Amino acid sequence: MKVEFQKKFIWGCAISAFQTEMGASEEAKFEGTDWYQWTHSEEIKNEGLVSGDLPEEGDGFYDLYRTDINNARSLGCNAFRLSIEWGRLFPNSTESIPCEVKKGNHGEILDVTMDEDSIRMLGSMVNKEAVKRYKEILTYIRSMGMKVFLTAYHWPLPSWLHDPVECHKDIDSCRKRGWLDEKTIIEYAKYVYYIAREFSDLVDVWETINEPEVIASQGYFLGPTSGFPPAVSNILLAMMVEKNLSLAHSVAYRIMKKEDKGKEVGIGFAFQYFEPATAGERDKKATEFVRYMSNEWILNLIVKGLLDEDGDGVAETHLDLPGTDYIGLDYYQRVRVSAGPEFESNPFDFKFEDCLDCTDFKWDIYPQGLENVLSLLYEKYGKPIYILENGIADERDEKRGRYIEEHIKFMAKAMAENKIPVLGYFHWSIIDNFEWADGFSMRFGLFGVDYKTKERVRRRSADVFERICKRGFIDV
Ligand code: BGC
Repeated sequence: MKVEFQKKFIWGCAISAFQTEMGASEEAKFEGTDWYQWTHSEEIKNEGLVSGDLPEEGDGFYDLYRTDINNARSLGCNAFRLSIEWGRLFPNSTESIPCEVKKGNHGEILDVTMDEDSIRMLGSMVNKEAVKRYKEILTYIRSMGMKVFLTAYHWPLPSWLHDPVECHKDIDSCRKRGWLDEKTIIEYAKYVYYIAREFSDLVDVWETINEPEVIASQGYFLGPTSGFPPAVSNILLAMMVEKNLSLAHSVAYRIMKKEDKGKEVGIGFAFQYFEPATAGERDKKATEFVRYMSNEWILNLIVKGLLDEDGDGVAETHLDLPGTDYIGLDYYQRVRVSAGPEFESNPFDFKFEDCLDCTDFKWDIYPQGLENVLSLLYEKYGKPIYILENGIADERDEKRGRYIEEHIKFMAKAMAENKIPVLGYFHWSIIDNFEWADGFSMRFGLFGVDYKTKERVRRRSADVFERICKRGFIDV
């Protein structure tokens, strides 16, 4: 069957600020985030939580952006997804700027409003050089005939809000607590006020937050193995962070809708395809539990306002949240789940099995899973979907071409056979970049990067992506 994509279908490549900006000029180097501190801390390096690679030795997109944007355009992309760095725009605390916080019956922050004087105060505090550079970058994307998909927040927090090293050492009494503290929602709202107004002319689609559930699970539940700040393991804290991020999305959604009328505003999640490791009942139950906690818990909250405080599968509270215009799906892999010996008394006693068809990251390649996740999302939540990320760590470029082709086929199948409204596909990534705790070892780029010379080298798999983007159809 031949599936034709509509002319307005979005084909794009994605990057994020922290992972690509630094590396060329001194000006591009920005030290004021928790991730910068985390990757430089000798203690954290000695504990083996991070690779030791340094983000300031990276791609240098802040200066070399034209090259990467041109390369994306040359592949036939009609959109480019990137993020801007909150801390770079507001290197100093905005806490003294007044705003009004509206809370619901249960004390949750539901809305933050600012008057014109307060918004002007933000304007006097902002780093004007950074605003200028970001505007140049967004303008350049537009001038190349591509739409701008802008992510407001892709993981690093300003240092004035989070001290990840102190929190790693003592999570109960650290002072700058990041997303554990609801004050971070309020400060995020101020930042969003500023960017929604200042960049509105240059943005086509907004994404409030990249993968809130990953920030929560990798930082606060799987921290000791993932190496994500603050690298602790406490399910209650992880749920608190996930809840605060969901409220932050909701507050940002309201602000973006008000300040930048008519634009689509959504949020992205990294949802994997969870599959029981065996046909046994216990593994099936464990898989259901993992799927619920990883995917549905947060979507029920964000899309339907249903808050399940204790993770027992039943929502205790209904919050008045505005939802989302679209769901962003970042799909990478299948995860096979098996129940541990204590699973009946402790549902968190489960295990993820090793990959069968592995990427360099030891993630399990499983393109069919994309069709499955798309169907699940659409059946339960009924929202249009953008695939905001899909890609593979594959330094030798042996599997990437097939990976791209197969995933796009399953996406096309879901669109054609199950009528799922997928509006676009972004490849992660246009260039190799700084892979968080793993540094430069994982190479996701359609273009490889020589980190010494900053040269971009096109990989052969880019041909596959280019062919699909330019032809506008695929045989499935
Ligand atoms: C994140 C990216 C990351 C990619 C590959 C996504 O979950 O948004 O920042 O580089 O996965 O790990």
